[in-house]
Amino acid sequence: MLEIQRLATLALTQVLGGKNLDHALTDARGQAKGQLTDHQRASLQDVGYGVLRHRTEIERVLQQLFAKKKPEPPLDALLMVATYQLLHTRVAHHAVVSHAVEVAGLLGATSAKGFVNGVLRNLLRQRDEFLNVAHETPEGRFSHPAWWIDKVSAQYPERWEALLGEAQAHPPMTLRVNRRNSSRDQYQARLKLAGIESVPVGLEGLILAEPVNVKQLPGFDQGDVSVQDASAQYAAELLALHPRQRVLDACAAPGGKTGHILERGNALELLALDKDAGRIKKVEANLRRLNLEAQCLAADAGDLKSWWDGRPFDRVLLDAPCSGSGVVRRHPDIKWLRRAEDIPALVATQERLLETLWQVVRRGGKLVYATCSIFREENQGQVETFLAKHPEARPQWIDDPLFHEGQIYPDQAHDGFFYAIFQKA
Ligand SMILES: C[S@@+](CC[C@H](N)C(=O)[O-])C[C@H]1O[C@@H](n2cnc3c(N)ncnc32)[C@H](O)[C@@H]1O
Repeated sequence: MLEIQRLATLALTQVLGGKNLDHALTDARGQAKGQLTDHQRASLQDVGYGVLRHRTEIERVLQQLFAKKKPEPPLDALLMVATYQLLHTRVAHHAVVSHAVEVAGLLGATSAKGFVNGVLRNLLRQRDEFLNVAHETPEGRFSHPAWWIDKVSAQYPERWEALLGEAQAHPPMTLRVNRRNSSRDQYQARLKLAGIESVPVGLEGLILAEPVNVKQLPGFDQGDVSVQDASAQYAAELLALHPRQRVLDACAAPGGKTGHILERGNALELLALDKDAGRIKKVEANLRRLNLEAQCLAADAGDLKSWWDGRPFDRVLLDAPCSGSGVVRRHPDIKWLRRAEDIPALVATQERLLETLWQVVRRGGKLVYATCSIFREENQGQVETFLAKHPEARPQWIDDPLFHEGQIYPDQAHDGFFYAIFQKA
C-alpha cells in the first residue's frame, strides 16, 4: 500500500503538470521498487484514475484543511492520493494516514510529516462537513471543469447531472465475441468454465462482472474475442456491409473497429488509414491477432493526393478525432487535459475530414460518421453543417431506442457515442 501511494503520487504529480495519465502511470511503474504484482498494478491504476475522477471534490475538501496556502508538489499530490483513498476506497483509514506520513518522508518532505498527519486526521474527524461544503457547487459535486459543466448543462438541460455523474463511474470491461470463431453463447460458456461471469450486451458483446487481465480470456491470443465498449460495437453494424465491398476505415488506430468490420464482412477489400504511423502498427498487430487482413497505411485521411487511387468506396467509416467527452469514465484525465479552446479546433478538423471523405464515397454508398463525444457541436452540429452543404447526402435515421438523434448517452453499459449515417444519392 505504501508503495502504491508513493507511485500514485509520482504519477499524479506528472498529470497535474499536464502529462497523460496512462503515460504517467507507465513511468511510475518503472520506478517501482521490485516487480509489482497484478493486484498492485490494479491498485495503482485505481488510485490514479480515482483521484482524477474526483479531483475537484478532493481539492475542495483539502482547501478547507489548509490553514494557509496549498502545499507544493509532490506533497499536494500525496494528499490528494490519501484523500481519495479515505473518501472512496475501503482501505483501512489508519493505514492510509500512517503510510502517507511515511511516503512524505520518502519523497524528501520529512519536515512535512506532521502536517500530512494533521491534515488527514482532521479530514477523518469532520469528513461529512467537509464533503458537504465541497459539494455546494456543481464543480465540487461532479468534478469537472466549469466550462465543461456549463456546456453540458446548456446542451442537455434535463440530463446534464446524469451525464456528468456517469463520467465518474467505473466503466465495465466489455468484450466483443468474434463471430467468425464462435457464437456469443458458446464464448460465454467458455468464460463461465474459466470462472468469469458475464452478461450479454448488444449483438456480440459481453460485459464482465469484474475486469480481468486479457491473458485470462480464453482464446484471446487466437482472436476469439476483443475488448471493446458496447457503443463502439455499433460501427460495424451501422455500416450495413455486403460481401466484396470496398471499405475505408479512415481513422482506424488502434483498430478496434477495423477488426470488427472484417469479422462481420465477407471478402471485403478494406483500407485502414491513420495519420499516426506508430498507431497504424497497432492496427496491424490487432489484425494479426484476429487473423484478418487489410491494407494499412499511415496517411492524413484529409489529404486525398497522399493516399487515394481514385477508386470510390462503398462504405466509409470516419471515426473522427474528438474531445472524448463520452469516454471520460475510461479516461478521467481527458476532462483536465482538454481546454475549452480545443473544441473549435477539433470541430474544424472533423468538418474538414467529413468534407474530404465524402468525395471518395461512390453514389449509393454510405459514410458513417462517429465520435465518442457528447458535445453537440461535434455531433448533431456537424450533421447540420454537412447536410446544409450537401443536398445529395441522405441522412439515415438509426431505429434503435438506445440512440437519441444519433447520440448514445453514457450509461452503465455504454460509453457516450454518436453516429450519423449518410447515403450518397
Ligand atoms: C477515435 S480514434 C479512432 C479509434 C479507432 N477507430 C478504433 O476503433 O480503434 C481517432 C484516430 O484518428 C486518427 N487521426 C486523427 N486525425 C487524422 C487524420 N487527419 N487522418 C487519419 N487519421 C487521423 C488519430 O491518430 C486516432 O488514432
